[in-house]
Amino acid sequence: MASVEIDDVRKSFGNHPVIKGVSVAIEDGEFVILVGPSGCGKSTLLRMLAGLEHISSGEIRIGDRVVNDLPPKERDIAMVFQNYALYPHMTVADNMSFSLMLAGVPKAQIQERVKPAAEILGLSSLLERYPRQLSGGQRQRVAMGRAIVRDPQVFLFDEPLSNLDAKLRVSMRTEIKNLHQRLTTTTVYVTHDQIEAMTMADKIVVMHDGIVEQIGAPLDLYDKPANLFVAGFIGSPAMNMLSGKLDEADPSRFVTGDGIVLPAPPGIASARGKELVYGIRPEGVSLGGTVDLKVQVIEPTGSESQIVALLGKTQVTCVFRERVMLQPGEILNVSIDPRAAHLFDAKSGMRLTD
Ligand SMILES: Nc1ncnc2c1ncn2[C@@H]1O[C@H](COP(=O)(O)OP(=O)(O)O)[C@@H](O)[C@H]1O
Ligand SMILES: [Mg+2]
Repeated sequence: MASVEIDDVRKSFGNHPVIKGVSVAIEDGEFVILVGPSGCGKSTLLRMLAGLEHISSGEIRIGDRVVNDLPPKERDIAMVFQNYALYPHMTVADNMSFSLMLAGVPKAQIQERVKPAAEILGLSSLLERYPRQLSGGQRQRVAMGRAIVRDPQVFLFDEPLSNLDAKLRVSMRTEIKNLHQRLTTTTVYVTHDQIEAMTMADKIVVMHDGIVEQIGAPLDLYDKPANLFVAGFIGSPAMNMLSGKLDEADPSRFVTGDGIVLPAPPGIASARGKELVYGIRPEGVSLGGTVDLKVQVIEPTGSESQIVALLGKTQVTCVFRERVMLQPGEILNVSIDPRAAHLFDAKSGMRLTD
């Protein structure tokens, strides 16, 4: 196991910059997820960690070694790709053993490593099968098994669950997290799915267009997004956002562009006079109160009611634990806890609340 340091790393393809100065410190044993929209540079950054892509400038350290110029096989990492890249003509056992065989590890020793890895992954009874005889989830596990037997310093995963159906994705999420808790190998995991990031990571790195928008523990990002991008990206349904300003005479009142008054979070002198965006998560709205919503769509999930409604002219989404029996077009009275509200500078996008 090892720490990983990414220090002001940049990458251009031709003269097109793709990674624009990224720094991330990953502790030994940590499970870190790089998340961001498609095309933001996640795979490129991961491939640079793996040594599959040269870096244009900056430094990458694994443990106490600078690995900028080390070839992949000398970096002591194991990577699991989105398409698994299994060898179709080899059995599960051979797929898992192959890299060790190439490295000249004696046969008996290979057996000793494959057996427990297969057990951990529930593959023991499938060792003689070929990839085409496996389900998507089983193939995914073989790809992980191949990484595990190498006992690397660092695991790298690039969207390993995106080829699986929704239900399997959820159970594999749990399996991978459980596996990390057992092996405690430093892991860097790439996904575009913020739920995957929230549920699995010790630490999330939110990327956007080649830069890091914010780094933090999942709930810290959720509770205190540093800017509008992170606020909109993390959380599902997404945070509701309303444009407006604080009332000049009474800064405890936020007034939207269409004149609706909402309770402002306390004590943010820096917000006065500015064009603002008021953010409130769907569960930050409660039933009963003086704010009127005009109901558009009610989506009961059984455990919750999700309501899409108009607040003035802005469409908002609310999630209530209670069952709401209303028809579209009816008015729903709600309240907003000002401590659950976020204020952002509309121009810079930066968070103003603590
Ligand atoms: N080999 C390459 N040559 C040129 N451009 C590339 C290459 N690989 C990736 N890119 C570009 O770099 C950007 C980031 O790609 P990528 O790291 O794959 O994004 P992500 O994994 O976040 O979806 C994209 O605009 C992509 O088109
Ligand atoms: Mg990618």
